[in-house]
Amino acid sequence: MDRIIIFDTTLRDGEQAAGGMLNVDEKLEIARQLEKLGVDVIEAGFPVSSPGDFEAVKTIASAIRQPVICALSHANPKAIDSAWEAVRAAENPRIHVFLSASEIHLSYQLKKTRDEILGLARDMVARAKSYLDDVEFSPMDASRTDPSFLHTIIEAVIEAGATTVNIPDTVGYAIPDEFGSLIEGIVTNVPNAHKAIISVHCHNDLGLAVANSLEALRRGARQVECTINGIGERAGNASLEEIVMALKTRKDLLNLETGIDTRQIYKTSRLVSELTGFVVQPNKAIVGANAFRHQSGIHQDGIIKKAITYEIMDPREVGVPASSLVLGKLSGRHAFKERLAELGYTLGDEDLDRTFQAFKELADKKKEVTDRDIETLVAQEMHAISETFHLDQVQVSCGMNTLASAAVRLIDSEGRVLTDAAVGTGPVDAVYKVINRIVSVPNKLTEFTVNSVTEGIDAVGEVLIRIESDGVSYTGRGADTDIIMASAKAYMNAVNRLLASRGKKTE
Ligand code: KIV
Ligand code: ZN
Repeated sequence: MDRIIIFDTTLRDGEQAAGGMLNVDEKLEIARQLEKLGVDVIEAGFPVSSPGDFEAVKTIASAIRQPVICALSHANPKAIDSAWEAVRAAENPRIHVFLSASEIHLSYQLKKTRDEILGLARDMVARAKSYLDDVEFSPMDASRTDPSFLHTIIEAVIEAGATTVNIPDTVGYAIPDEFGSLIEGIVTNVPNAHKAIISVHCHNDLGLAVANSLEALRRGARQVECTINGIGERAGNASLEEIVMALKTRKDLLNLETGIDTRQIYKTSRLVSELTGFVVQPNKAIVGANAFRHQSGIHQDGIIKKAITYEIMDPREVGVPASSLVLGKLSGRHAFKERLAELGYTLGDEDLDRTFQAFKELADKKKEVTDRDIETLVAQEMHAISETFHLDQVQVSCGMNTLASAAVRLIDSEGRVLTDAAVGTGPVDAVYKVINRIVSVPNKLTEFTVNSVTEGIDAVGEVLIRIESDGVSYTGRGADTDIIMASAKAYMNAVNRLLASRGKKTE
C-alpha cells in the first residue's frame, strides 16, 4: 500500500504541449528511456487524435515490455476501438477513458446533463473493459466538480470495471489542503473505492502541481501522473523528478516508495529536453543546471567541509555526472570513451568514431571540454537525421552601419553543390534567407533561443528553433562555439526534419 505507481504522461500530455512534434522514432527512444527509469505506466499517446499518434502508440506497445502501456481515449466508441487497436500488442495494455464532469464543462462545452454523463461514463468504461482488464477513467476537471456528483460517477465507473480512477486538476486550480481533502473524501465516501487505485493528475497553472500531488498521495492516492521536466499543457504537469525525489528525500515524513531508478533521472531529462526542444530552466529543481551549484561563499565553505550542510540530495543519486576529469585536445579516444561510459553512454564503433571526431573539432576551439559539452555532442551525433541538404560552408559579414550579408553553400543528397547569398536584418537573418532561397520549402520561423551550454568566452552556444510549415511544427538544434554557425546548423536541422517527414508521407 505504500508503493506509489508512477504513471508517466510525457508522451501524451507532455507531447500535446510540444505541438505533436516528436516523430515515432523519437517517441520510442523516450519510451525506452522511461522503461530504464523504471516508470510503472507509460501513457504513450492518444491514438484517435492523429494517425501519427496511433502509429507511435502501436510501435511502443510492441517494443516496450516492462511497463504498462496506456492509450488515452475520448468517451466514444470510435476512440475506444482505436485505443484498443493501438495498445493490443502490449504485454500489459491499458485504456484510459476521460470525460468532463464539472458543471462548467457540462453546461458550456458538452451541453449534457449529469445523467447523460453518468450513462456515457459507465457505457464507455464497459466498452473498454470488453477489450481488456486494465481500464482507467478520468472525470475531467474533477477539482471543480461537485464532490457528491464526483463520488457518484466514480462509484459508477468502478462498478462498470474501471481499475484505476484518476482525479485530474485539469486547470491547475486546486490548493494542496483542498485537493488532499477531495482525495480523502473519495477514499472514505465512495463505497467501492477500495476496488480501484485512486490516481491524481495535476496541472501547474498556480505552480502547485507537485505540492497537490504529494498531498494527494499523503491522503490516499496511490498512482501519480506526471511528466519529465514537468512539460505538459500550458504551465505543464507535475514534474516526475520532483515528486520522486521528494518522496525519496523525505521518506522519513511521507513513508512512500516508488520503483524509479533515480540515477536515470538526469539522462531522461536531457533526452526529453533534447527531443522536444523544451529547454530546462537553469533553476529547475532536481535537473536544472544550477540545481546542485553553490554560488555563495558561505555555502561553498559548508559544502567543502561537509556536503550535507547545504545539499539535501547527492547529485549522483539523480545521475548528475560528478565531473572527475576534464577533457581537452590532448585527450585520446580511450579517455573519451571512458568519460562517455561514466556519463552513461555506450556508443557503437561507428557512433563513437563520429562523436570522437566532433569532440576533437570542439577541443581545437575550446580549452576544456566539459561533461555538458560532451552531452551536447552525443545528442547532436546520436540524433543526426538523414540530411536532404548538408550545410557545407557559411560566410557572414556584419557590423555597425553596414549591411549584414551571408553566403551559404549546401550539398544536396545527390552531391550537387548549391550556393547563394543574401542580405538580412542581421547575420542570422541573412543566413536563414539564403538557406530558404536554396531549399525552397515555405516555412515560418516561430521560435529562436540561444543558450550557453557552459560558462566562459569559449562556451558552446546551443540554438534551438522551431519552424512551422502547413500547420506542423518542427524543431531544430545546433551547437557550436560560434553562435551564427549554431544558428545555421539549427535551421538546417529543422528544414531537414521537415523534408524527411514530407518524404515519409510521400512514400
Ligand atoms: O488534464 C486532464 O484532465 C487530462 C485528462 C485527459 C486526464 O489530461
Ligand atoms: Zn492533463
